[in-house]
Amino acid sequence: MTEPAVGLDAIEIWTGKCKLDLANTFAPARDEDPEKYTKGLGLRASSFPDTYEDIVTMGANAAKRLMDREGLTPADIGRIDVATESAFDNSKPVSTYVAGCLEQVYEGDFRHANKGERKFACVSGTQSIDDAYNWIRAGRNRGRAALVIATDTALYARGDPGEATQGAGAVAMLVDVDPSIVTLSTEQGIGSMDETDFLKPNQQFPSVDGKRSVQVYLSRMREALEDYESVAGRVGVEDFVFAPFHTPFPGMVRKAAVLAYRHVTRGTEIEDALEPEIGRQPREDDFDGRESFETNMRDYVDALSGTERYRTWYGETVEPTLGIAREVGNWYTGSVHIARVSALLAALENDRNIGGETLLVGSYGSGAQAEIHAETVREGWREGVAAADPFDRLAERHSLSFAEYEHIHDAHNHEVETEIEAFTEPNGEFIHAGWGRMNERKYEYVE
Ligand code: COA
Repeated sequence: MTEPAVGLDAIEIWTGKCKLDLANTFAPARDEDPEKYTKGLGLRASSFPDTYEDIVTMGANAAKRLMDREGLTPADIGRIDVATESAFDNSKPVSTYVAGCLEQVYEGDFRHANKGERKFACVSGTQSIDDAYNWIRAGRNRGRAALVIATDTALYARGDPGEATQGAGAVAMLVDVDPSIVTLSTEQGIGSMDETDFLKPNQQFPSVDGKRSVQVYLSRMREALEDYESVAGRVGVEDFVFAPFHTPFPGMVRKAAVLAYRHVTRGTEIEDALEPEIGRQPREDDFDGRESFETNMRDYVDALSGTERYRTWYGETVEPTLGIAREVGNWYTGSVHIARVSALLAALENDRNIGGETLLVGSYGSGAQAEIHAETVREGWREGVAAADPFDRLAERHSLSFAEYEHIHDAHNHEVETEIEAFTEPNGEFIHAGWGRMNERKYEYVE
Protein backbone atom coordinates (compact mmCIF):
# COMPACT_ATOMS: atom_id res chain seq x y z
CA MET A 1 0.00 0.00 0.00
CA THR A 2 1.42 3.42 -0.88
CA GLU A 3 1.38 5.97 1.92
CA PRO A 4 -0.67 9.12 1.19
CA ALA A 5 1.25 12.27 0.23
CA VAL A 6 1.03 14.67 3.18
CA GLY A 7 2.14 18.28 3.29
CA LEU A 8 1.15 21.93 3.13
CA ASP A 9 -2.14 22.53 1.38
CA ALA A 10 -2.52 26.26 2.13
CA ILE A 11 -0.51 29.03 3.80
CA GLU A 12 -1.48 32.50 5.04
CA ILE A 13 0.70 35.21 6.50
CA TRP A 14 -0.34 37.97 8.90
CA THR A 15 2.14 40.74 9.58
CA GLY A 16 2.10 43.01 12.61
CA LYS A 17 0.58 46.24 11.29
CA CYS A 18 3.45 48.61 12.16
CA LYS A 19 7.02 48.70 10.93
CA LEU A 20 10.32 50.14 12.03
CA ASP A 21 12.69 51.22 9.27
CA LEU A 22 16.08 50.05 10.48
CA ALA A 23 18.38 52.07 8.22
CA ASN A 24 16.47 55.37 8.31
CA THR A 25 14.89 55.37 11.79
CA PHE A 26 16.61 52.87 14.09
CA ALA A 27 20.25 53.31 13.01
CA PRO A 28 20.31 57.14 13.32
CA ALA A 29 18.65 56.97 16.75
CA ARG A 30 21.29 54.45 17.85
CA ASP A 31 24.03 56.51 16.17
CA GLU A 32 25.05 53.54 14.04
CA ASP A 33 25.92 53.05 10.39
CA PRO A 34 22.73 52.06 8.48
CA GLU A 35 24.79 49.52 6.52
CA LYS A 36 25.25 47.45 9.67
CA TYR A 37 21.54 46.67 9.26
CA THR A 38 21.09 46.62 5.48
CA LYS A 39 24.39 44.91 4.61
CA GLY A 40 25.62 43.24 7.83
CA LEU A 41 22.38 41.81 9.17
CA GLY A 42 20.62 42.06 5.79
CA LEU A 43 17.45 43.70 7.16
CA ARG A 44 15.50 46.71 5.95
CA ALA A 45 12.63 46.77 8.46
CA SER A 46 10.98 44.98 11.38
CA SER A 47 7.26 44.33 11.78
CA PHE A 48 5.61 45.35 15.06
CA PRO A 49 2.16 44.62 16.43
CA ASP A 50 -0.15 47.58 16.85
CA THR A 51 -1.58 48.11 20.36
CA TYR A 52 -4.58 45.84 19.75
CA GLU A 53 -2.54 43.00 18.21
CA ASP A 54 -0.85 40.08 19.94
CA ILE A 55 0.09 36.47 19.18
CA VAL A 56 -3.56 35.39 19.36
CA THR A 57 -4.97 38.07 17.06
CA MET A 58 -2.19 37.60 14.50
CA GLY A 59 -2.60 33.81 14.57
CA ALA A 60 -6.40 33.93 14.44
CA ASN A 61 -6.37 36.51 11.64
CA ALA A 62 -3.98 34.40 9.55
CA ALA A 63 -6.14 31.31 10.24
CA LYS A 64 -9.38 33.07 9.34
CA ARG A 65 -7.98 34.29 6.08
CA LEU A 66 -6.84 30.74 5.30
CA MET A 67 -10.19 29.17 6.23
CA ASP A 68 -12.15 31.75 4.22
CA ARG A 69 -9.99 31.22 1.17
CA GLU A 70 -10.17 27.43 1.37
CA GLY A 71 -13.90 27.45 2.20
CA LEU A 72 -13.31 25.55 5.46
CA THR A 73 -15.50 25.32 8.55
CA PRO A 74 -14.44 24.14 12.04
CA ALA A 75 -15.72 20.63 11.18
CA ASP A 76 -12.95 20.32 8.57
CA ILE A 77 -10.18 20.85 11.17
CA GLY A 78 -9.23 18.01 13.54
CA ARG A 79 -6.22 19.64 15.15
CA ILE A 80 -4.99 23.14 16.01
CA ASP A 81 -1.38 23.44 17.08
CA VAL A 82 0.17 26.78 17.90
CA ALA A 83 3.93 27.16 17.92
CA THR A 84 5.18 30.19 19.81
CA GLU A 85 7.89 31.39 22.11
CA SER A 86 5.88 34.46 23.11
CA ALA A 87 3.15 32.72 25.13
CA PHE A 88 1.62 34.64 28.06
CA ASP A 89 0.21 31.67 29.95
CA ASN A 90 1.98 28.60 31.33
CA SER A 91 -1.17 26.49 31.30
CA LYS A 92 -3.87 27.53 28.86
CA PRO A 93 -2.56 27.14 25.31
CA VAL A 94 -2.78 29.88 22.71
CA SER A 95 -4.64 27.46 20.40
CA THR A 96 -7.68 27.59 22.72
CA TYR A 97 -7.81 31.38 22.39
CA VAL A 98 -7.41 31.10 18.61
CA ALA A 99 -10.23 28.54 18.44
CA GLY A 100 -12.39 30.83 20.61
CA CYS A 101 -11.79 33.69 18.18
CA LEU A 102 -12.63 31.60 15.12
CA GLU A 103 -15.77 30.25 16.80
CA GLN A 104 -17.04 33.84 17.02
CA VAL A 105 -17.23 34.04 13.23
CA TYR A 106 -17.92 30.50 11.95
CA GLU A 107 -20.86 28.14 12.27
CA GLY A 108 -19.95 25.18 14.48
CA ASP A 109 -17.03 24.73 16.85
CA PHE A 110 -13.71 23.00 17.40
CA ARG A 111 -15.03 20.84 20.27
CA HIS A 112 -13.54 17.66 18.80
CA ALA A 113 -10.30 19.16 17.55
CA ASN A 114 -7.11 18.32 19.46
CA LYS A 115 -5.39 21.56 20.54
CA GLY A 116 -1.94 22.21 21.88
CA GLU A 117 1.01 24.53 22.07
CA ARG A 118 4.50 23.56 21.00
CA LYS A 119 7.64 24.98 22.52
CA PHE A 120 11.19 24.67 21.32
CA ALA A 121 12.22 28.22 20.43
CA CYS A 122 12.01 28.85 16.67
CA VAL A 123 11.96 25.19 15.60
CA SER A 124 8.54 24.47 17.12
CA GLY A 125 6.61 25.61 14.01
CA THR A 126 8.30 22.84 12.07
CA GLN A 127 7.77 20.42 14.96
CA SER A 128 4.04 21.20 14.85
CA ILE A 129 3.95 20.41 11.15
CA ASP A 130 5.75 17.19 12.01
CA ASP A 131 3.09 16.36 14.63
CA ALA A 132 0.32 17.03 12.11
CA TYR A 133 2.08 14.90 9.50
CA ASN A 134 2.42 12.01 11.93
CA TRP A 135 -1.21 12.33 13.04
CA ILE A 136 -2.40 12.12 9.44
CA ARG A 137 -0.01 9.31 8.47
CA ALA A 138 -1.13 7.35 11.53
CA GLY A 139 -4.69 7.51 10.20
CA ARG A 140 -6.09 9.32 13.22
CA ASN A 141 -7.36 12.40 11.39
CA ARG A 142 -10.79 11.05 10.27
CA GLY A 143 -10.51 12.88 6.96
CA ARG A 144 -9.82 16.19 8.68
CA ALA A 145 -6.90 18.55 8.16
CA ALA A 146 -4.57 20.09 10.78
CA LEU A 147 -4.18 23.81 11.33
CA VAL A 148 -0.66 24.79 12.36
CA ILE A 149 -0.06 28.38 13.44
CA ALA A 150 3.38 29.83 14.10
CA THR A 151 2.92 33.19 15.85
CA ASP A 152 5.34 35.42 17.72
CA THR A 153 6.08 38.91 18.91
CA ALA A 154 9.87 38.63 18.81
CA LEU A 155 10.77 41.53 21.08
CA TYR A 156 14.08 42.06 22.88
CA ALA A 157 14.88 44.36 25.79
CA ARG A 158 15.74 47.84 24.55
CA GLY A 159 19.49 48.16 24.09
CA ASP A 160 19.98 44.39 23.60
CA PRO A 161 21.96 43.58 20.41
CA GLY A 162 18.97 41.49 19.34
CA GLU A 163 16.80 44.63 19.23
CA ALA A 164 17.75 45.15 15.58
CA THR A 165 16.36 41.75 14.64
CA GLN A 166 12.89 42.07 16.21
CA GLY A 167 9.70 41.20 14.35
CA ALA A 168 6.06 40.20 14.79
CA GLY A 169 3.75 38.10 12.68
CA ALA A 170 1.99 34.81 12.19
CA VAL A 171 1.96 32.06 9.58
CA ALA A 172 -1.06 29.74 9.37
CA MET A 173 -0.58 26.47 7.50
CA LEU A 174 -3.02 23.74 6.59
CA VAL A 175 -1.50 20.25 6.69
CA ASP A 176 -3.50 17.71 4.70
CA VAL A 177 -3.32 14.71 2.38
CA ASP A 178 -2.83 15.35 -1.31
CA PRO A 179 -1.69 18.93 -0.61
CA SER A 180 -1.57 21.78 -3.14
CA ILE A 181 1.78 23.35 -2.26
CA VAL A 182 4.43 20.86 -1.01
CA THR A 183 4.68 17.32 0.32
CA LEU A 184 7.09 16.53 3.15
CA SER A 185 9.79 13.87 3.07
CA THR A 186 9.57 11.06 5.58
CA GLU A 187 13.34 11.40 5.92
CA GLN A 188 14.48 14.02 8.38
CA GLY A 189 17.71 14.89 10.17
CA ILE A 190 18.06 16.26 13.69
CA GLY A 191 20.98 18.04 15.40
CA SER A 192 20.10 18.63 19.06
CA MET A 193 22.13 19.49 22.16
CA ASP A 194 21.50 21.13 25.55
CA GLU A 195 22.74 24.70 24.91
CA THR A 196 22.52 28.00 26.75
CA ASP A 197 22.45 30.50 23.87
CA PHE A 198 18.97 32.05 24.09
CA LEU A 199 16.33 31.48 26.75
CA LYS A 200 13.43 33.12 28.59
CA PRO A 201 13.35 31.66 32.10
CA ASN A 202 9.87 32.94 33.03
CA GLN A 203 10.62 36.34 31.58
CA GLN A 204 9.19 38.13 28.57
CA PHE A 205 12.37 39.31 26.87
CA PRO A 206 15.10 36.79 26.14
CA SER A 207 18.51 36.42 27.74
CA VAL A 208 20.71 36.10 24.68
CA ASP A 209 24.31 35.25 24.05
CA GLY A 210 24.04 36.45 20.46
CA LYS A 211 27.49 35.51 19.20
CA ARG A 212 27.21 32.05 20.74
CA SER A 213 23.74 31.59 19.28
CA VAL A 214 25.21 32.12 15.81
CA GLN A 215 27.81 29.39 16.43
CA VAL A 216 25.23 27.02 17.90
CA TYR A 217 22.93 27.56 14.89
CA LEU A 218 25.78 26.59 12.55
CA SER A 219 26.85 23.53 14.57
CA ARG A 220 23.39 22.07 15.07
CA MET A 221 22.50 22.74 11.42
CA ARG A 222 25.60 20.84 10.27
CA GLU A 223 24.67 17.88 12.50
CA ALA A 224 21.09 17.92 11.20
CA LEU A 225 22.38 17.88 7.62
CA GLU A 226 24.69 14.95 8.36
CA ASP A 227 21.84 13.13 10.09
CA TYR A 228 19.55 13.81 7.12
CA GLU A 229 22.17 12.46 4.73
CA SER A 230 22.49 9.32 6.85
CA VAL A 231 18.87 8.44 5.98
CA ALA A 232 18.26 10.20 2.65
CA GLY A 233 21.70 9.71 1.06
CA ARG A 234 24.29 12.29 0.18
CA VAL A 235 22.91 15.72 -0.70
CA GLY A 236 24.20 17.50 -3.80
CA VAL A 237 23.90 21.21 -4.64
CA GLU A 238 21.91 20.40 -7.76
CA ASP A 239 19.37 18.29 -5.86
CA PHE A 240 17.21 21.15 -4.65
CA VAL A 241 15.83 24.29 -6.24
CA PHE A 242 15.66 26.39 -3.03
CA ALA A 243 16.97 26.06 0.51
CA PRO A 244 14.62 27.90 2.91
CA PHE A 245 16.37 28.11 6.27
CA HIS A 246 15.46 29.63 9.61
CA THR A 247 16.19 33.34 9.13
CA PRO A 248 16.63 35.31 12.37
CA PHE A 249 18.26 37.83 10.02
CA PRO A 250 19.44 37.22 6.44
CA GLY A 251 23.13 37.57 7.42
CA MET A 252 22.73 34.39 9.50
CA VAL A 253 21.61 32.43 6.46
CA ARG A 254 24.50 33.88 4.45
CA LYS A 255 26.90 32.36 6.99
CA ALA A 256 25.09 29.00 7.06
CA ALA A 257 24.76 28.72 3.28
CA VAL A 258 28.48 28.83 2.51
CA LEU A 259 29.21 26.22 5.19
CA ALA A 260 26.48 23.98 3.81
CA TYR A 261 27.83 24.42 0.28
CA ARG A 262 31.32 23.50 1.44
CA HIS A 263 29.95 20.40 3.16
CA VAL A 264 27.91 19.11 0.25
CA THR A 265 30.60 19.80 -2.39
CA ARG A 266 33.39 18.03 -0.48
CA GLY A 267 34.91 15.27 -2.62
CA THR A 268 32.71 16.14 -5.63
CA GLU A 269 33.52 17.39 -9.10
CA ILE A 270 32.64 20.89 -7.85
CA GLU A 271 35.53 20.78 -5.39
CA ASP A 272 37.76 19.57 -8.27
CA ALA A 273 36.54 22.34 -10.55
CA LEU A 274 37.21 25.02 -7.92
CA GLU A 275 40.68 23.68 -7.04
CA PRO A 276 42.69 25.81 -9.50
CA GLU A 277 41.05 28.94 -8.07
CA ILE A 278 40.93 28.28 -4.30
CA GLY A 279 42.70 24.96 -3.67
CA ARG A 280 41.18 21.84 -2.12
CA GLN A 281 39.17 21.77 1.08
CA PRO A 282 41.45 21.32 4.10
CA ARG A 283 41.28 17.80 5.61
CA GLU A 284 41.79 17.56 9.35
CA ASP A 285 44.29 14.69 9.02
CA ASP A 286 46.64 16.95 7.07
CA PHE A 287 47.11 19.32 10.03
CA ASP A 288 49.04 18.97 13.29
CA GLY A 289 46.41 20.63 15.45
CA ARG A 290 42.74 21.53 15.38
CA GLU A 291 43.54 25.24 15.47
CA SER A 292 45.58 25.34 12.28
CA PHE A 293 42.97 23.15 10.56
CA GLU A 294 40.23 25.59 11.58
CA THR A 295 42.22 28.63 10.41
CA ASN A 296 42.77 27.01 7.03
CA MET A 297 39.13 26.01 6.82
CA ARG A 298 38.03 29.58 7.55
CA ASP A 299 40.30 30.84 4.76
CA TYR A 300 38.92 28.22 2.37
CA VAL A 301 35.32 29.14 3.20
CA ASP A 302 36.09 32.85 2.72
CA ALA A 303 37.61 32.14 -0.68
CA LEU A 304 34.71 29.83 -1.60
CA SER A 305 32.15 32.54 -0.83
CA GLY A 306 33.86 34.81 -3.39
CA THR A 307 33.83 32.33 -6.29
CA GLU A 308 31.53 32.90 -9.24
CA ARG A 309 30.21 29.35 -8.97
CA TYR A 310 29.18 29.75 -5.33
CA ARG A 311 27.73 33.20 -5.85
CA THR A 312 25.58 32.00 -8.73
CA TRP A 313 24.28 29.08 -6.65
CA TYR A 314 23.60 31.37 -3.68
CA GLY A 315 21.77 33.91 -5.89
CA GLU A 316 19.52 31.21 -7.34
CA THR A 317 18.97 28.92 -4.35
CA VAL A 318 19.22 30.98 -1.16
CA GLU A 319 18.79 34.69 -1.92
CA PRO A 320 15.14 34.23 -3.07
CA THR A 321 14.27 32.79 0.36
CA LEU A 322 15.14 36.07 2.11
CA GLY A 323 12.70 38.49 0.43
CA ILE A 324 10.07 38.65 3.19
CA ALA A 325 12.55 38.36 6.10
CA ARG A 326 14.36 41.50 4.93
CA GLU A 327 11.13 43.47 5.36
CA VAL A 328 9.86 41.95 8.62
CA GLY A 329 12.78 40.83 10.82
CA ASN A 330 12.66 37.69 12.94
CA TRP A 331 9.30 35.98 13.34
CA TYR A 332 10.84 33.20 15.45
CA THR A 333 8.58 30.14 14.88
CA GLY A 334 7.27 31.55 11.58
CA SER A 335 10.66 32.48 10.18
CA VAL A 336 11.49 29.36 8.15
CA HIS A 337 7.93 29.29 6.87
CA ILE A 338 8.11 32.80 5.42
CA ALA A 339 11.44 31.77 3.86
CA ARG A 340 9.61 28.98 2.01
CA VAL A 341 6.90 31.40 0.84
CA SER A 342 9.53 33.95 -0.28
CA ALA A 343 11.25 31.36 -2.44
CA LEU A 344 8.03 30.11 -4.02
CA LEU A 345 6.89 33.69 -4.69
CA ALA A 346 10.21 34.42 -6.40
CA ALA A 347 9.69 31.38 -8.63
CA LEU A 348 6.18 32.59 -9.42
CA GLU A 349 7.42 36.06 -10.28
CA ASN A 350 10.05 34.62 -12.62
CA ASP A 351 7.47 32.31 -14.18
CA ARG A 352 9.53 29.25 -13.29
CA ASN A 353 8.03 25.81 -13.55
CA ILE A 354 9.15 24.18 -10.29
CA GLY A 355 6.41 21.54 -9.94
CA GLY A 356 8.13 18.29 -8.90
CA GLU A 357 11.30 20.08 -7.74
CA THR A 358 12.76 19.73 -4.23
CA LEU A 359 13.23 22.22 -1.41
CA LEU A 360 15.78 21.53 1.32
CA VAL A 361 14.24 23.03 4.47
CA GLY A 362 16.40 23.83 7.52
CA SER A 363 14.72 24.85 10.80
CA TYR A 364 16.46 25.87 13.99
CA GLY A 365 15.52 26.67 17.57
CA SER A 366 17.88 27.96 20.23
CA GLY A 367 18.45 25.78 23.23
CA ALA A 368 19.13 24.08 20.71
CA GLN A 369 17.88 21.95 17.84
CA ALA A 370 18.08 21.99 14.07
CA GLU A 371 15.91 19.92 11.73
CA ILE A 372 16.36 19.26 8.02
CA HIS A 373 13.92 17.63 5.67
CA ALA A 374 13.03 17.81 1.98
CA GLU A 375 9.80 18.98 0.39
CA THR A 376 8.50 18.29 -3.10
CA VAL A 377 6.72 21.12 -4.84
CA ARG A 378 3.28 20.05 -6.05
CA GLU A 379 1.97 20.79 -9.52
CA GLY A 380 -0.74 23.05 -8.11
CA TRP A 381 1.66 25.25 -6.08
CA ARG A 382 1.12 28.50 -7.98
CA GLU A 383 -2.39 29.43 -6.84
CA GLY A 384 -1.80 28.75 -3.13
CA VAL A 385 1.47 30.66 -3.13
CA ALA A 386 0.05 33.66 -5.01
CA ALA A 387 -2.72 33.88 -2.40
CA ALA A 388 -0.16 33.95 0.43
CA ASP A 389 1.74 36.94 -1.05
CA PRO A 390 2.12 39.42 1.85
CA PHE A 391 3.93 42.24 0.03
CA ASP A 392 0.92 44.52 -0.48
CA ARG A 393 0.07 44.30 3.22
CA LEU A 394 3.70 44.85 4.18
CA ALA A 395 3.62 48.07 2.17
CA GLU A 396 0.53 49.23 4.10
CA ARG A 397 2.12 48.99 7.57
CA HIS A 398 2.26 52.15 9.64
CA SER A 399 5.87 53.37 9.63
CA LEU A 400 6.88 54.16 13.22
CA SER A 401 9.01 57.13 14.23
CA PHE A 402 11.63 56.23 16.83
CA ALA A 403 9.48 57.75 19.62
CA GLU A 404 6.45 55.76 18.41
CA TYR A 405 8.59 52.62 18.33
CA GLU A 406 9.51 53.14 21.98
CA HIS A 407 5.82 53.59 22.83
CA ILE A 408 4.77 50.45 21.00
CA HIS A 409 7.59 48.48 22.60
CA ASP A 410 6.36 49.67 26.02
CA ALA A 411 2.76 48.86 25.10
CA HIS A 412 3.76 45.22 24.56
CA ASN A 413 6.07 45.07 27.59
CA HIS A 414 4.23 43.09 30.28
CA GLU A 415 6.03 45.05 33.01
CA VAL A 416 5.01 48.53 31.80
CA GLU A 417 1.61 50.25 32.13
CA THR A 418 0.90 52.41 29.08
CA GLU A 419 -2.03 54.26 27.60
CA ILE A 420 -1.37 54.80 23.92
CA GLU A 421 -3.64 55.13 20.94
CA ALA A 422 -3.46 52.61 18.13
CA PHE A 423 -1.66 53.75 14.99
CA THR A 424 -3.94 51.86 12.61
CA GLU A 425 -7.65 51.16 12.35
CA PRO A 426 -8.76 47.51 12.74
CA ASN A 427 -10.79 46.36 9.79
CA GLY A 428 -12.29 42.88 9.38
CA GLU A 429 -10.02 41.30 12.01
CA PHE A 430 -9.73 40.01 15.56
CA ILE A 431 -8.44 42.44 18.18
CA HIS A 432 -7.30 42.13 21.78
CA ALA A 433 -10.12 43.90 23.62
CA GLY A 434 -9.10 43.66 27.30
CA TRP A 435 -8.92 41.25 30.22
CA GLY A 436 -11.52 39.09 31.96
CA ARG A 437 -12.09 38.33 35.64
CA MET A 438 -9.40 35.60 35.80
CA ASN A 439 -6.88 37.75 33.97
CA GLU A 440 -7.65 35.93 30.73
CA ARG A 441 -7.38 37.87 27.50
CA LYS A 442 -10.56 38.85 25.69
CA TYR A 443 -10.87 39.07 21.92
CA GLU A 444 -13.42 40.58 19.57
CA TYR A 445 -13.96 40.49 15.85
CA VAL A 446 -14.18 43.98 14.33
CA GLU A 447 -16.13 44.16 11.05
N1 COA B 1 28.61 47.77 7.13
C1 COA B 1 28.49 46.46 6.76
N2 COA B 1 28.45 45.45 7.67
C2 COA B 1 28.52 45.76 8.98
C3 COA B 1 28.66 47.10 9.42
C4 COA B 1 28.69 48.13 8.43
N3 COA B 1 28.79 49.40 8.76
N4 COA B 1 28.71 47.09 10.78
C5 COA B 1 28.63 45.81 11.17
N5 COA B 1 28.50 45.00 10.09
C6 COA B 1 28.37 43.54 10.06
C7 COA B 1 29.29 42.83 11.02
O1 COA B 1 30.58 42.61 10.45
C8 COA B 1 28.52 41.54 11.28
O2 COA B 1 28.68 40.67 10.18
P1 COA B 1 29.58 39.33 10.35
O3 COA B 1 29.00 38.58 11.51
O4 COA B 1 29.41 38.63 9.05
O5 COA B 1 30.96 39.82 10.63
C9 COA B 1 27.05 42.00 11.22
O6 COA B 1 27.05 43.24 10.53
C10 COA B 1 26.45 42.22 12.60
O7 COA B 1 27.28 43.11 13.30
P2 COA B 1 27.69 42.82 14.80
O8 COA B 1 28.60 43.88 15.25
O9 COA B 1 28.14 41.39 14.95
O10 COA B 1 26.26 43.00 15.47
P3 COA B 1 25.85 42.89 16.97
O11 COA B 1 27.00 42.57 17.85
O12 COA B 1 25.09 44.13 17.28
O13 COA B 1 24.82 41.67 17.04
C11 COA B 1 23.81 39.57 16.80
C12 COA B 1 24.61 40.66 16.09
C13 COA B 1 23.39 38.50 15.79
C14 COA B 1 24.66 38.91 17.87
C15 COA B 1 22.54 40.19 17.43
O14 COA B 1 21.75 40.75 16.45
C16 COA B 1 21.73 39.24 18.27
O15 COA B 1 22.03 39.00 19.44
N6 COA B 1 20.63 38.71 17.71
C17 COA B 1 19.70 37.85 18.41
C18 COA B 1 20.11 36.40 18.44
C19 COA B 1 20.07 35.78 17.07
O16 COA B 1 19.33 36.18 16.20
N7 COA B 1 20.88 34.72 16.89
C20 COA B 1 20.96 33.99 15.63
C21 COA B 1 20.80 32.53 15.78
S1 COA B 1 19.15 32.11 16.19
